[in-house]
Amino acid sequence: MQPLFKTVGIVGTGAMGRGIAQMAAQAGSDVILFDVQPGAAETARLALRETWNKLSLKGKLTAEQVTDLEARLQVAGSIQALAPCQLVIEAIVEKLDVKQRLFGELEGLVAASAVLATNTSSLSVTAIAAGLQRPEQLVGYHFFNPVPLMKVVEVIAGLKTSALVCQQMTDFTRQFGHTPVSAQDTPGFIVNHAGRGYGTEALRVIGERVADFATIDRILKDQMGFRLGPFELMDLTALDVSHPVMEAIYRQYFDEPRYRPSVITAQRLAGGVVGKKVGEGFYVYTDGVAQVPAEPAVPVVAELPPVWVSPKAARRTEIFQLLKELGAQIETAGAPSEAALILVAPLGLDVTTLAAVERLDPTRTMGLDMMLEDSATKRRVLATNPATRIDMRDAAHALFARDGKAVSVVRDSGGFVTQRVVATIVNIAADMCQQGICSPDDLELAVTLGLGYPMGPLAMGDRIGPTNVLEILFNMQTVYGDPRYRPSPWLRRRGALGLSLKHTEA
Ligand code: NAI
Repeated sequence: MQPLFKTVGIVGTGAMGRGIAQMAAQAGSDVILFDVQPGAAETARLALRETWNKLSLKGKLTAEQVTDLEARLQVAGSIQALAPCQLVIEAIVEKLDVKQRLFGELEGLVAASAVLATNTSSLSVTAIAAGLQRPEQLVGYHFFNPVPLMKVVEVIAGLKTSALVCQQMTDFTRQFGHTPVSAQDTPGFIVNHAGRGYGTEALRVIGERVADFATIDRILKDQMGFRLGPFELMDLTALDVSHPVMEAIYRQYFDEPRYRPSVITAQRLAGGVVGKKVGEGFYVYTDGVAQVPAEPAVPVVAELPPVWVSPKAARRTEIFQLLKELGAQIETAGAPSEAALILVAPLGLDVTTLAAVERLDPTRTMGLDMMLEDSATKRRVLATNPATRIDMRDAAHALFARDGKAVSVVRDSGGFVTQRVVATIVNIAADMCQQGICSPDDLELAVTLGLGYPMGPLAMGDRIGPTNVLEILFNMQTVYGDPRYRPSPWLRRRGALGLSLKHTEA
């Protein structure tokens, strides 16, 4: 295979530059490494040699391939050595003026047709290109850490980037086996923008003291299939990285409420409680292992009350079936008896509102999250309201745990935990489509590969039903009066018409 770019220059050979150099060499290009710090490029070359030798020991490369790859790496003594490159990728410090200066120097060295690429994750590609003679040759080329394992690359078009340059970078990405996605030059591009919903909404849930960190993590993993809970994830990424990203994207969008960060992470960052790497974040780590508090035990209840289900409950027939399987005594009269446990199953509303509107006795009323079919989840979530009696709470907990399935009992909240977090993720993704930041397909690809979600956010919305997601958000706006929950026009129109969230207009 002929590499699209015969010679590729890498400027900045730290963690990212090294990985990018590996990819370029594996695509078949000759690679020239340059770093301002003396010896750094040579260190990178030696590290890459070791990486390839390890891959050969694992049988992933032949000895011949390793020799060939090593021969393609060259260390530059000065930046002038990059002159013959058809592509130069920069992975230096994240500072606008330093990057601008570097590219100004580079465009004076390379041919007019050469492509200049920046691996920036938070700066505007347009701003980096602003002072250049040939801004059309500069493109955003955003990798994720660790580069060889994170197999997605965002190709970002600045305001003046030529379509040909974007196409070349897209094709080049395929040459080393990564998946290219195309993004417009907007804060956070695709992955860091789409990732805003998960953590920020989970922090809102914590801020309301609906449940503790561990419970929220368990709920989102067991109900929706996220690999890591939001607090586990923030501990892994560390707040010194993720809080500034939350703040930057919020500010860059001129305080758009959808991206509003949390005082909780600001405070923890100030206190140095940033995550696993320092031994303490939302969890405490002993020898690198999170100390997860045990789940509250299922209460032992001698006699379970009969159960009455609100006629307005979501998936009411399914709830009856489930109650039957759990051996509950079901009441079918128009109103609950004096002894009954009263169940509501809201979408987006809180238990309190339903008890008030449906004129139910709040002391006996509990909510059950039925956004998803019971069979599709590994955990049931029940919610109390401020008036719920302890005996009713315990009875509901014991009843729904009867078949051994995990149960979490949380406090009242508009949209339980999973509903509100998932609706927020879906809404942000829908709005990215509305803004034309990327195509629905690229959004799904970027999020599944870059964030490891169990499915793309639009697929998540389709799974729940766009109309249901819309209902959750409308109702959450009623409960909270917070503009962060206002549905994106993309979701609003597709939800109202019953169309898939991946549907694009003619
Ligand atoms: P790093 O600190 O490991 O490496 C940066 C390297 O660039 C250092 O070796 C430094 O000596 C060199 N350098 C600094 N200024 C230079 C200049 N003017 N000319 C030549 N070399 C220079 O940093 P890392 O993590 O590799 O990140 C580099 C870039 O990649 C940043 O722009 C960052 O925003 C971006 N990025 C980082 C990600 C990450 O997870 N670490 C993910 C995606 C993008």
